[in-house]
Amino acid sequence: MCSTNSTTEHPIYDATVSKVGAYENCTVRLKGWLYNKRSSGKIIFIILRDGTGIIQCVASVNGIGQDEFEKLDKLNQESSLIVEGVVKKDPRAPGGYELEVKNYYIVSEAFDDYPITLKEHGIEFLLDNRHLWIRTPRQRAILTIRAQIVKACRDFLDKEGFVNVDAPILTPSACEGTTTLFSTDYFGEKAYLSQSGQLYNEAAIMAFGKVYCFGPTFRAEKSKTRRHLIEFWMVEPEAAFMTFDEMLVLEENMVTYIVEHVLANCQNELSEIGRDPEKLSQVKPPFPRITYSDAVDLLKRNGVDISWGDDFGAADETAIAKEFAKPVFVTHYPTKIKAFYMQPTPGDPETVLGADLLAPEGYGEIIGGGERIYDYHLLLERIHEHNLPLEDYEWYLDLRKYGSVPHSGFGMGIERVVAWICGLGHVRETIPFPRMLNRLRP
Ligand code: 4AD
Ligand code: MG
Repeated sequence: MCSTNSTTEHPIYDATVSKVGAYENCTVRLKGWLYNKRSSGKIIFIILRDGTGIIQCVASVNGIGQDEFEKLDKLNQESSLIVEGVVKKDPRAPGGYELEVKNYYIVSEAFDDYPITLKEHGIEFLLDNRHLWIRTPRQRAILTIRAQIVKACRDFLDKEGFVNVDAPILTPSACEGTTTLFSTDYFGEKAYLSQSGQLYNEAAIMAFGKVYCFGPTFRAEKSKTRRHLIEFWMVEPEAAFMTFDEMLVLEENMVTYIVEHVLANCQNELSEIGRDPEKLSQVKPPFPRITYSDAVDLLKRNGVDISWGDDFGAADETAIAKEFAKPVFVTHYPTKIKAFYMQPTPGDPETVLGADLLAPEGYGEIIGGGERIYDYHLLLERIHEHNLPLEDYEWYLDLRKYGSVPHSGFGMGIERVVAWICGLGHVRETIPFPRMLNRLRP
């Protein structure tokens, strides 16, 4: 953009690291933090990060003068600074460009040793310092991919004609069973943090046809696994008149859209975290479908001690998914192990029109969903069977009184999807500030 032998003074352009390629040979101003530094006598190499990427900046005594050079040489990691310099193409540099420093200003000098150095740290230490840990390129890459996954969910559903109608967080009743409710005092009354926006979605579809809610959900689960968070984000589409089979097609199209979006937009981030895109590029519809009963047989053939009617544990899900290169639907679960609102399978009331989508490579359930009971009397019966307080579900029953229609929907856990797409061993790195069994801080 700027010529190297021009006689006129160039202006200084405000730029970001990710965009420096557009300013070759120009003088730019970058604002960021000192990520790393190494010095060799008359030259200092600074790695500057600005949230959009990292760039190597080269400062010399000739370029900035002896005093400024010495000051820079003493600057602590994570000090904030503004650097002005000329953008130079350098194929060896990460990102392909380097900055030849002409000037710099210290915004705030880090005055203590930064706890997170470039050496290895234990996971508990890193989680204690999550407020600082998120600055590292790997964490930035994961959380950037998360943001793109969230965007892809919204883009896909908006494009499909779903209206975003959000559900309340403070609720008087349970959606997914009473054992995992978080309760709080609501001016003398007991309120619970939402486990799922589904019940409210079911009201909204009667007004909008197709809706989705997208928000934080809470489960007071005493499980300490690599797939469980206490607070997680769920996107929940729901549609009036949508059949069970149509819902499965929607799910596979949405998951495929998300994977394709990440592959197209997050190449740098995937390579930063060392995720091989090859496995992800196999994710194309249709996804295989097997019934719960077939899945039980499959597990038995593999020597697993399981009987029809048992719920699958994480190891079972992994064993089932291992048979497939793509995500797999497990359908028609036993009525007894699923939620109260699930529509029975026509001709087989022992099972329901419910499906879980299991991710490949051992990531387990990423989606749970199904067709909902739309008959007033059957729903009332189930509410009684599950010992749910009728007064809290009267509004939900109303939806079956006034123009009820068959309908389906599902919930996809964002963190599980991020863990799978990024190839992470644990969901704790998939959310900015994880809430886990023994962790409420920072
Ligand atoms: O299968 P679940 O419990 O389904 C529901 O809540 C339905 N009401 C959703 C609906 O139909 N609208 O949860 C849905 C998804 C799971 O497949 C999983 O991805 C995620 O939410 N999930 C969790 N993610 C992290 N930590 C936990 N403790 C989770 N529990 C569920
Ligand atoms: Mg589930």
